[in-house]
Amino acid sequence: MSSNAQTVFPPSADFAAQANATAAMYERAEADPQEFWAEQARRLDWDTPFTQVLDWSNAPFASWFADGKLNVAVNCVDRHVTAGKGDRVAIHWVGEPIDDHRDITYSQLKDEVSRAANYLAGIGLQAGDRVAIYMPMVPEAIISMLACARLGLTHSVVFAGFSSAALRSRVDDAEAKVVITTDGQYRRGAPAPLKAQVDEALGSGADAAPSVEKVIVVRRTNHDPELPWVDGRDVWWEDTVGEASPEHQPEAFDAEHPLFLLYTSGTTGKPKGIVHTSGGYLTQASYTFHNVFDHKEGRDVFWCGADIGWVTGHSYLVYGPLSNGATEVIYEGTPNSPDEHRHFQVIEKYGVTTYYIAPTLIRTFMKWGREIPAAHDLSSLRLLGSVGEPINPEAWRWYHEVIGGGRCPIVDTWWQTETGGIMVSPLPGVTACKPGSAMRPLPGISANVVDDNGVPVADGEQGYLVLDQPWPGMLRGIWGDEQRFKDTYWSRFAEQGWYFAGDGARYDEDGALWVLGRVDDVMNVSGHRISTAEVESALVSHSAVAEAAVIGAADETTGQGIVAFVILMEGAADTGEELIKALRDQVAVDISPIAKPREINVVPELPKTRSGKIMRRLLKDVAEGRELGDTSTLVDPSVFEAIRARRG
Ligand code: WTA
Repeated sequence: MSSNAQTVFPPSADFAAQANATAAMYERAEADPQEFWAEQARRLDWDTPFTQVLDWSNAPFASWFADGKLNVAVNCVDRHVTAGKGDRVAIHWVGEPIDDHRDITYSQLKDEVSRAANYLAGIGLQAGDRVAIYMPMVPEAIISMLACARLGLTHSVVFAGFSSAALRSRVDDAEAKVVITTDGQYRRGAPAPLKAQVDEALGSGADAAPSVEKVIVVRRTNHDPELPWVDGRDVWWEDTVGEASPEHQPEAFDAEHPLFLLYTSGTTGKPKGIVHTSGGYLTQASYTFHNVFDHKEGRDVFWCGADIGWVTGHSYLVYGPLSNGATEVIYEGTPNSPDEHRHFQVIEKYGVTTYYIAPTLIRTFMKWGREIPAAHDLSSLRLLGSVGEPINPEAWRWYHEVIGGGRCPIVDTWWQTETGGIMVSPLPGVTACKPGSAMRPLPGISANVVDDNGVPVADGEQGYLVLDQPWPGMLRGIWGDEQRFKDTYWSRFAEQGWYFAGDGARYDEDGALWVLGRVDDVMNVSGHRISTAEVESALVSHSAVAEAAVIGAADETTGQGIVAFVILMEGAADTGEELIKALRDQVAVDISPIAKPREINVVPELPKTRSGKIMRRLLKDVAEGRELGDTSTLVDPSVFEAIRARRG
């Protein structure tokens, strides 16, 4: 279907009249990108103003605003207090148990962040040291991130749904000195242990994680009166941070000082520690938050449904909103706890104006039925956002009509852990949107769609999405692995010096950009990035499995679902359901329950080329029930008959 034939949703005159963004921004940015970014960077408070903007002479290692100095936490917290906005609520925190909530003003946030900073400094941590944060969505998680930022410590947030094995590999890779966690976390109404996973991850004796000196534990669930404790290593947050002084004198750091590492899945089994720095990252988080979410200080109530374990949580739960002095909702739990009304009750209660979630959740709401949102007053909403995966036009229209009451613009935002902030998105009040298209690179951002040789493809043709100009929020490297950084992102179009995003895309005849999903071995399940190689390596770590091939197959709700094909070891018994369960559990243990395959097929053979490469594309055809593509390069095309027979 030609995208031209689709309905276009122009902004209403009312919205356009009050919008932060203007069409002129595109031209200004194009005319002088560096001056444009310098202007955006001046949104922040600099202790030492920068005189340089971009230094790309050492590409692909960028420096932005390199001679400037700032404190990221001061920009997110203190300066709002100084400006007399201390009584404004920064965070409406909503716990998973109903009636468990807490409002935190900017003044209170400043005190809490200062206490945490004082304690962390007091135990000897110094700028540049790494701190792992393995926590559910409690305020202390954000306080911890900001305390690190305040001291120039580099935080590494590890999603609390990751297994202890996954935590350990990230702690070791970053050589984190401290782990901050909670005793437990609520999962669908019941407390589940979390500190126990930290203990398991960190090991003991000869196996103990060598870098970790302290584990700070926030009391959240209080579910275990006999919580195992390692004396000397473990401390309660309330006894340490809680007792520290709320006065802390911040120091300024270089713009290029590392702010955080965030591990994300790549095409190999080993996650990559994406490095982000301070001034450029915060500039982009702040600029995009203001313009893409049309943020109105003191009036809007923003809600980003992501977890702090993902980049969306970093940029649009912490650094973007707080650097803008926003008031936001942070919700600890799942959307159906205690029932499917929860999100809509929260929107109603807090008067949420701006709501930013993943398409998977929209499709889940669709399944639950429109009567659920219809039972609530959602009239406070004025802008909706989507992130993490392509949004199908049907979900877009449903979101627009049922949640947005037909009046709210939708910003479909394309970006990545590596980009730090939103890159491609409509500008609300400016862009006429096509459902399913992320529309256009933001002012200051340049993207292209090219073929294998780097030649731009014609409008309407599919190609690779590349970013052909550096941007302030760009990753500065992969922690401890310069070569992998170059190979992964910069080798594909080395001659041109372009960043290869790993996504397929096309521009349509009207210049709207359609992102089509990953072209590498990375899956996108419910907006979570999971590598096929990681799941394969978890499967083969089970003693019954000789070989495994994993693909992401189209899934109506989650975007993609994980489908595995495994060959058993000689002599291993195929015990049917029991084996499948054991294999799924193995993946949960090695990675996370979110990576459990939807379907595991035990097969006699995997389709391979003569050079021994598994033909994943063909497995995808099988899993999605399509006719097979070209099988002529296979050693033994008949393997498919056997695979099909096993799938039934
Ligand atoms: C996908 C999440 C289509 C894409 C912020 C990208 C999207 C990967 C969109 C990054 C979107 C994200 N439309 N696809 N609006 N947003 N993606 O690192 O494949 O968790 O490469 O960052 O998600 O996932 P990540």
